[in-house]
Amino acid sequence: MAELFTGIINIEDKEFNYLKDLIYQQTGIALASHKKIMLQSRLNVRLRTNQIPNFVEYVKKLQTDKSFFEKEVLEIINRVTTNKTDFYRENHHFEYLKNTFLPKMEELAKNNFKKKIRIWCSAASTGEEPYTIAITLLEYFTDKPGWDLKIIATDIDTNVLATAEKGSYKEDRMSPVKPELKNKYFLTVSDGKTKEFQVKPILKGLIEFKKLNLLESPYLFKEQFDLIFCRNVIIYFDKPTQTKIFYEFEKVLSKDGILIIGHSETLFGISESYKFLGQTVYQKKS
Ligand SMILES: C[S@@+](CC[C@H](N)C(=O)[O-])C[C@H]1O[C@@H](n2cnc3c(N)ncnc32)[C@H](O)[C@@H]1O
Repeated sequence: MAELFTGIINIEDKEFNYLKDLIYQQTGIALASHKKIMLQSRLNVRLRTNQIPNFVEYVKKLQTDKSFFEKEVLEIINRVTTNKTDFYRENHHFEYLKNTFLPKMEELAKNNFKKKIRIWCSAASTGEEPYTIAITLLEYFTDKPGWDLKIIATDIDTNVLATAEKGSYKEDRMSPVKPELKNKYFLTVSDGKTKEFQVKPILKGLIEFKKLNLLESPYLFKEQFDLIFCRNVIIYFDKPTQTKIFYEFEKVLSKDGILIIGHSETLFGISESYKFLGQTVYQKKS
């Protein structure tokens, strides 16, 4: 038995197809058949943790044991999501925020006296993206008091959300952050061997973290958003799922609201409801 739990446990087509369908239903992530080995290796740890000797038994338990299914499905989601992210990833979007979006919001506020901005970061992963947005906002509004700023940061994966909420990053994650911003917005915590950077309350205070599955709509928020970040997640979804998500975004975006997607993603052929502004930045059509 011990040997069973140390070697690689192989998955056959039948069990792969069951898990592939389950993952699609639960997350929208469409796994192609060449992802079989990837899935096998990501789920091997789940079999070991549950002391289940093979995928046949694992799938059988998922199909027959409701309480196991409910707990395990969360673990499967956490194992299959790809969480790659970085501070200042695709920096042109933060330049757009600083040079175009925020000046525009300031200009609008002169007319409607609403010094308020709401941003939704809809696939926040381990937090680097919402914290980069927060730094950009705080830097922009340094000498401009009275603004009510809030970022809602969501993800389907509860592990990455926990990391995001903790807001503590190893030194090698911090290289995209300029030294003066590192000092201003992070506290250095060291145990003598390693150094970690802990986000300061001023940054964290702008962000509310929540679990949200983009597949589960309508999205229930108290307020509409001026801007939605949805970067590097729709690539994992098929076209009908993408279409549905962008349709749901329309409902929670304010008039002329902005939608930002990842550099390898597009709304072309997916949604006609947004105007392309360049560099994967879109605006909801009136
Ligand atoms: C590659 S990361 C991108 C992170 C960040 N947006 C960026 O561009 O750096 C994709 C994230 O989408 C999340 N995700 C995948 N499926 C999701 C779903 N159905 N609903 C919400 N988030 C999802 C994953 O958990 C992961 O953290």
